[in-house]
Amino acid sequence: MKSDAKSEHWSDVYGSKADTDTSWYEPVPAASLAMLDRLNVGAGQSVIDVGGGTSALVGSLWARGHRDLSVLDVSAEALQRSRGRLGEDADRVDWVVADVTDWTPTRQYDVWHDRAVFHFMTTPNARAAYLATLRSTLRPGGALVLATFALTGPEQCSGLPVARYSAEGLVDVLGPGIELIDHREVVHTTPWGSEQPFTWIGGRLTP
Ligand SMILES: C[S@@+](CC[C@H](N)C(=O)[O-])C[C@H]1O[C@@H](n2cnc3c(N)ncnc32)[C@H](O)[C@@H]1O
Repeated sequence: MKSDAKSEHWSDVYGSKADTDTSWYEPVPAASLAMLDRLNVGAGQSVIDVGGGTSALVGSLWARGHRDLSVLDVSAEALQRSRGRLGEDADRVDWVVADVTDWTPTRQYDVWHDRAVFHFMTTPNARAAYLATLRSTLRPGGALVLATFALTGPEQCSGLPVARYSAEGLVDVLGPGIELIDHREVVHTTPWGSEQPFTWIGGRLTP
């Protein structure tokens, strides 16, 4: 799928659904915060939330004292909504409308966070492009938090096919240079009560 088509797809999704009508909605990003804590990520560290959509993570990190935050998403609609929720603090967050597979960062970050985005990279080309962005964006030694559908998770999300992973499979597909520090399977419950098992990994980009 080309970037324009992705942007259109996701903006249609966000344009037609409230947050609580999306399967990935969670009022508190508990698993993300737990993995960031596990990696000793502190308020002084810069974080980019890749495919952050309308996630509450940016607000939670702001409340924890983080002041160097970026949220990247292919949907301008999603970022606009997230921005609105943060109020005046939103002006101090960097909102980046971009396709992660086709984006050149202008700086590096201490932390890369992705919940439910990498699994949309279902071709070797898309995965390679994602990983190239990850490697140029995350500083050497930086922390990586990644969550995808687990092997027993759904085969699709939002009408798009996804790739599902075990922790081992995820580390394998990420390739060399990632030190795995922790992994977990966490079952997410959608707003309508369905269960979606996710694989979470926390690691570091080896210097
Ligand atoms: C399932 S949602 C997860 C949103 C958010 N991470 C969360 O946990 O609430 C997937 C998000 O990834 C974004 N997305 C999908 N493909 C993308 C891409 N190639 N580049 C950037 N964002 C993308 C979508 O717009 C959407 O906001």
